[in-house]
Formats: sequence, C-alpha cells, structure tokens
Amino acid sequence: MTDVQTEIAPVTRPNGKEPTRELKGLVLSGGKGSRLRPLTATGAKQLVPVANKPVLFYALEQLVAAGIREIAIVTGDTGAQVEAAVGDGSAFGAEITYIQQTAPLGLAHGVMTAREFLGDSPFCMFLGDNFLKQGIAQHARRFMTGNAAGQILLKRVDDASAFGVAVLDDQGRVLRLVEKPKEPISDMAIVGVYFFGPEIHQITPTLKPSGRGELEITEAIQGLIDAGFVVESSVIGDEWVDTGKKDDMLEANRVVLAMIGRRVDGEVDALSQIVGEVIIEPGATVIESTIRGPAIIGAGTTLRNAYVGPFTAIGERCALTDCEIEHSIVLSDSAISGIGVRIADSLIGKEVVVERSAQRPQAVRLMLGDHAHVGLI
Ligand code: TTP
Repeated sequence: MTDVQTEIAPVTRPNGKEPTRELKGLVLSGGKGSRLRPLTATGAKQLVPVANKPVLFYALEQLVAAGIREIAIVTGDTGAQVEAAVGDGSAFGAEITYIQQTAPLGLAHGVMTAREFLGDSPFCMFLGDNFLKQGIAQHARRFMTGNAAGQILLKRVDDASAFGVAVLDDQGRVLRLVEKPKEPISDMAIVGVYFFGPEIHQITPTLKPSGRGELEITEAIQGLIDAGFVVESSVIGDEWVDTGKKDDMLEANRVVLAMIGRRVDGEVDALSQIVGEVIIEPGATVIESTIRGPAIIGAGTTLRNAYVGPFTAIGERCALTDCEIEHSIVLSDSAISGIGVRIADSLIGKEVVVERSAQRPQAVRLMLGDHAHVGLI
C-alpha cells in the first residue's frame, strides 16, 4: 500500500501484435506450505507477517508499483483467509480476482487455472511467498518493451544445488533450466517472479506431472525455449527471499526491519529505553522495558519488564512480561512471560502462550502442534 503506485501509468506491450495490451498480475497463494508447519496447519503461509505485514502484501504492492492493476490471486485451502486479508484490492490500488485451484498441482497448473482471467494478455506471475526488496517495475518495463515470450529473474547464489537454475547464452537468453543441479552448471537461481506472453498457454496443456506430481513451471519455460520462443533473463542484485521456511521468514523480516525508521505512537514510560529504529504502533504500551531496534511492536501490545532486541517483530495484542526476545517474529495475540532465557531466532504463531510455571515437579510442559520444532538449552 505505497502511495506512489496510483501515479504510475499502466505498462503496455508494443510487441507488434497487440500494441495496447496491459500486463496483468498472477499471484500464486495456494500450495501446501509443508515446510512452514505447524503455522500453515491453520493459516496461509503467504499471510505470515514480515515486519508485521503479510508477506503477500509486498508482492501485491510491487505489482501495483509496476503499473499492474488487474491481479488474480490463485488460492488453495486457505483461500477464505487470503480473501479476508486482501479484500477487493482497493486498499492496494488494484482490482483483485480470486481463483480457486482444485489442488496444489504445481505452478504451471496455477497458470492453467487462471487461463480465462489471463486471456491473451502478457502477465507477471509472482509467487505469493517470495519477497523482493526493490520490486519489479524495471523488469516489467523491459518485458513490455521487448518481444520475448518469457522473462525470468535470476539471482546469483553461492550454492545453487538447492535451487532451480538457468543456463544462459552470452546475450543473457535462457538456454536451459535445471532443477537442483548436482553438477555446478550455473550459479543463477530462478527467482519466483516470471513474465510470460500468451505463448505459455500453448505449452502448459502439453505438460506431464513431474516426479513430485506437479506441473512444473520450469518445464513450461523449457517448453517455450524448445518450441523456439525467446526467454530472456534479468539478473537481480536485489535482496530476494523465498520465505518457505522459518529462517527465510526471519531473513525477510531482517531485510524489511533494516529500513523501517523510527516512529513511536504508543505509550512508553520513563523507565523504558527505546534505542535506534523502532516502530511502536498506537495503543501499544511499554513499561520498564528496553527495545533495541530495528524492531516493531504491534498495536495493542504490552511489554512489561521485557527486552526486545534487534530484528524482532511483535504482532498486535501480544503481552510480553519478564522476558527477552530478539531476531524473532511473534504473531498476534500471543503471550510470553517469565522466561529465564532469551528467546532468539524464533517464529511464534497466533494466540501462543509461552510461560514459566510454578507447578511441581518442575518440568518443561509442552502442548505443540504437529511438526512443531522446539530448541531447548
Ligand atoms: P512452493 O513454496 O514451491 O510450494 P508449497 O506452497 O506447496 O510449499 P512447501 O514446499 O513448503 O510444501 O510454492 C510457491 C508459491 O506458489 C507459494 O506461494 C504457494 C504457491 N503455489 C500455488 O498457489 N499452487 C501450487 O500448486 C503450488 C505448488 C504452489
């Protein structure tokens, strides 16, 4: 929801065939989210907050900032939550259509699911859990002023073996895509933002499910190349995080908090210390506590004799008492109290209680969801 977006003119594609077509947006916000369980057992991973704002919102803002107004969000089981959070798009300056995917059958299946919405328009597909610091406007402009059938974003990485990678020719055109290469054939990882022309719809119906049972977008792109279409690439220097796992969420949180500035709208008592770039939202109360930024404290949250250290985002209506926490994300309505050790590198869900108990015998008592992960000292 940046203010600048409404002033940017829609991007059109003068590719000789359809000179005035507008770029549409396609955000994939379904999927299984298995790597972020148990959070994703109840919630959409695209709604996990980065600096107290759902990661999906950054994608929507960046599409709008690139002049894209018509956006479809492909959803899965958590569609109702996504729809409730995003609404009709007016808050973003966009017009949003929701499309339910029958099952998480792959990114290329997401494109097929949105076939009617996309029509023959060129589009930008943005994975709803991917975070890019600087946005996509320049890449959208490049795609719309060229005549490639596809354009992918690439990021140079140290260890490419965990990514899909692209092999390029000396012009930067994509020759070949390889999933999780065992041999070091390229250090260019494929970022979750893609541009396609309508040519992609010739390829997607020909795809067969991969070994993991999905229609793979990398195979669709390879199909474009094999059919003789041009697929361009842009190498980004920008910070990019694929927020599929806890540590990736913390990394995106770190990147955003590093640029938040300082704003204190809540109540801070005279015994508290607020150091550096800290946002304290209206209705938050800080009593006898220290906050060392960058950090954000959500509306209605109370800190009492607490320490909140760098790179921490505390959601709305939380209560932190007699505890220390840093480099962590806490979602809304959670309570942490009386913990004798500092909590760090943690992702704590909604309505979670972490407390010291006086009950005998003294023991760690846990009530954890499936796939929870606890690191005790
Ligand atoms: P992934 O992170 O690749 O897949 P996933 O959500 O199933 O997660 P995990 O591997 O942890 O089980 O998906 C990237 C994005 O695309 C994410 O926002 C979910 C979305 N997506 C869909 O909308 N439909 C799909 O069929 C798939 C596979 C993903």
